[in-house]
Amino acid sequence: LRNDFDQLVDVKGGFISREIFVDADIYRQELDKVFTRAWLLVGHESLVPNPGDFYTSRMGEESVILCRDKKGDIHVFLNSCRHRGMKVCRYEQGNTSLFTCPYHSWTYTTDGKLQGVPLHRTLYDGVLDREANSLVSVAKLCNYKGSIWATWDKDAPDFITYLGDAKIHLDQALDCRDGREGGSEVIGVHKWVFPANWKFAAENFLGDTYHNPSHRSVDLIGIGPSAAAGKKGRRDDELEKAQHVWISFPEGHGVHSAIQPEANEYIESFLDNPILEKYFRHCFEERKRRLGEGARLLPFVGTIFPNTSYHGRQPRGLCAWHPHSPTSTEGWRFFLVDKDAPNEAKEYLRRYYMRYSGPAGMTEQDDMENWLYATAASTGTVARRYPFNYQQSMGAYVTDHPLGGDVSTQVTEQIARGFYRRWTTYMQGGDWHELLGSPAGNRQAAE
Ligand code: FES
Repeated sequence: LRNDFDQLVDVKGGFISREIFVDADIYRQELDKVFTRAWLLVGHESLVPNPGDFYTSRMGEESVILCRDKKGDIHVFLNSCRHRGMKVCRYEQGNTSLFTCPYHSWTYTTDGKLQGVPLHRTLYDGVLDREANSLVSVAKLCNYKGSIWATWDKDAPDFITYLGDAKIHLDQALDCRDGREGGSEVIGVHKWVFPANWKFAAENFLGDTYHNPSHRSVDLIGIGPSAAAGKKGRRDDELEKAQHVWISFPEGHGVHSAIQPEANEYIESFLDNPILEKYFRHCFEERKRRLGEGARLLPFVGTIFPNTSYHGRQPRGLCAWHPHSPTSTEGWRFFLVDKDAPNEAKEYLRRYYMRYSGPAGMTEQDDMENWLYATAASTGTVARRYPFNYQQSMGAYVTDHPLGGDVSTQVTEQIARGFYRRWTTYMQGGDWHELLGSPAGNRQAAE
């Protein structure tokens, strides 16, 4: 039964076994079948701005080095020496001209080449092939608007193909607030470990707004972008007037987004701070001018399969849910601001982000409590016999919407059903044609 994924994930009936969230064997298979094939978020170019800069990251459970070489090119390497596997880089970030392995001192250049081997002539002359013993590089790497993505699968499609119609939603997190393409920088990274399966977090950000009662305390104190406790902020007003949509994409991605009315206007929010008011007004008006109709799209949250989530607006940023074990996950939140924003706006946003999300933020604490109790409660001998219910809003979507995918105008678990359907395809070793899916194929499976 353990490996019969069609039994475990019954998307037609709307039931998913708890085993996929707690079982050690399934988890080991996930690392092999999902995390070595899918495109994963590694970091952001602003974390390695200069030649020789490095930032250690993760892909699945494994440590990788995001590095800018002497010529300025970005690489991602497995952080493991080719001799006996020691980590060649034990720091979180820094600048170096060489990575020197602490064990026996083999050294690697910043473009991954094996350069120094102690006593080479005496011990390895004529035997050691330096080229073949370079650091292991990812098969494909993409710098998408500053965010760095990689896959270990040489047969994977290019990243834009992998994104499909989810691209314009991810763009909202990566583009400048005033509508210019790219131009963002990471203002800080929060990292923390929590005792829950990684899929709880990924699924939460697919568009599960059904869990909003969890955040009632945040709503009550009103910490929208105006940061004015006790009164509604601009975000609340915009969201109330907008047409909300929940979209399931065939590649397994999902988003909860909204479309503003045509005649939306800037709402004054920072009357006590002229610098912020000027900045946010400028961004609003400039975005509208640049994007025209496109500026009406007001995205909130989404997940790019399998483990990268994002906030498209506020707090704008990317989240990687790195698996540690079946019941443990390391969350990394990369907070983004416009590189050329006034310092006062960056500082305001930095504080807002910390207060809103991350390990000490008000919303993430609510979420984590749900995920960790759900994980713990699902490990029980009896609990594991009872699947989770995913029957919400069965069939309530349209397929001919200009935003692509299966589009619903009501809260729906269609996105989660699509995500787990695609997860099942990976676990069954599907080829890339199947993994990219098609709207029709995805729907058939989920109905
Ligand atoms: Fe790296 Fe031996 S393990 S030099």
